[in-house]
Amino acid sequence: MAGAVKEAATWEIRHERPEDAPLVEALNAESFGPGRYAKSAYRLREGVHAVAELSFVATEGGAFRGSVRFWPVTIGHEDVLLLGPLAVQSAERGRGIGIALMNRGIEEARRRGYGAIILVGDEPYYARVGFAKLPPGRVRFPGPVDPSRVLGLSLTPNALVSLSGEIRRAKIDDPVCADGAGLGG
Ligand SMILES: CC(C)(COP(=O)(O)OP(=O)(O)OC[C@H]1O[C@@H](n2cnc3c(N)ncnc32)[C@H](O)[C@@H]1OP(=O)(O)O)[C@@H](O)C(=O)NCCC(=O)NCCS
Repeated sequence: MAGAVKEAATWEIRHERPEDAPLVEALNAESFGPGRYAKSAYRLREGVHAVAELSFVATEGGAFRGSVRFWPVTIGHEDVLLLGPLAVQSAERGRGIGIALMNRGIEEARRRGYGAIILVGDEPYYARVGFAKLPPGRVRFPGPVDPSRVLGLSLTPNALVSLSGEIRRAKIDDPVCADGAGLGG
């Protein structure tokens, strides 16, 4: 289910490139603040790289507007995607860019055969692209999480039905950073 686009889109959504990374990091720092590293969802990203083929940026006339990334996690024995961070530059919010970024990532994840996506966020917003609350307690995070903000989206029929258990990092790409040491702001 796609959200409504309120204006003719003058931005483009394309894969993130290495040179975009500083802009993405700066936007996430500005949007979520330093407290983001303490959040459960961030702890699942420590020492693990985002899925490169699912990292997208929005640009307009060459200017950076927003970003979405996805991380690989496991729930029980299932490989699942964790959506986020998603952020749009503050002056450009409310134009449909966030929904467009998510739709592009979801479409690409489906095309590549991923089964399900989960995230921690505001249900009224993410419901616009098909996310719904998971039953409380079904997925356990490595830290406190508001159960009403744990949302999921099946990309293949019933993919969420069998999901239950602890959510963990799917792998460690960078053991030096695995405990958070050396992670930049
Ligand atoms: C959340 C965010 C990515 C949305 O990006 P955006 O480009 O403004 O979103 P869109 O233009 O696609 O959608 C805007 C619509 O979603 C609504 N919306 C935005 N955030 C919302 C939220 N947290 N809860 C409910 N609705 C929300 C807006 O009110 C607007 O509604 P309208 O279409 O009825 O006017 C952007 O506000 C942002 O970067 N925020 C800071 C970072 C953040 O909070 N990220 C999400 C983490 S859970």
